[in-house]
Amino acid sequence: MKRALIPGTFDPITEGHLDVISRATQLVDEVVVGVAASPNKKPLFASEERVALAQEATRHLKNVRVLSFNCLLVDFATQIEAQILIKGLRAITDFEYEFQMTALNYQLNKAIETLFIMSPPQYMYLSSSIVREIASLRGDVDRFVPSCVGAALKAKFAEA
Ligand code: PNS
Repeated sequence: MKRALIPGTFDPITEGHLDVISRATQLVDEVVVGVAASPNKKPLFASEERVALAQEATRHLKNVRVLSFNCLLVDFATQIEAQILIKGLRAITDFEYEFQMTALNYQLNKAIETLFIMSPPQYMYLSSSIVREIASLRGDVDRFVPSCVGAALKAKFAEA
């Protein structure tokens, strides 16, 4: 049973994340989307909200589970018996950060391999942070996020 963990803060999940997740489902038996608590990033959405949105957005993908975690990534991977970490790689700007995390995760646990899936051109410059910014300024984010996320962003900024 090959199980891959796709980790992230998912604040919120975007079409770019979904592209990576759906492509990963073709490569392994099961994909676990790991929603990191990431308290240092002061997320807009609470962990439970990010999990619920990721669950809704991946409901059509049969071999995907969404779980939250608040520990070292490699420890979470071990706990859920994932042998592979899959990350999306967008523009070259991602590389330095991903290179560092991959090297450190490998030092921490050599049994876990990290693989990268390149973003297609339409998602190269898409990020959760830019989506939050556009939504906060009442811009249209519908083409960048699944409909449940678009609705959640509208509700979040209507509160503000
Ligand atoms: O979507 P993000 O915010 O870029 O994802 C970053 C994430 C959650 C993958 C990273 O911060 C992480 O792995 N957090 C878990 C804590 C950990 O293991 N940190 C050490 C990484 S070398």
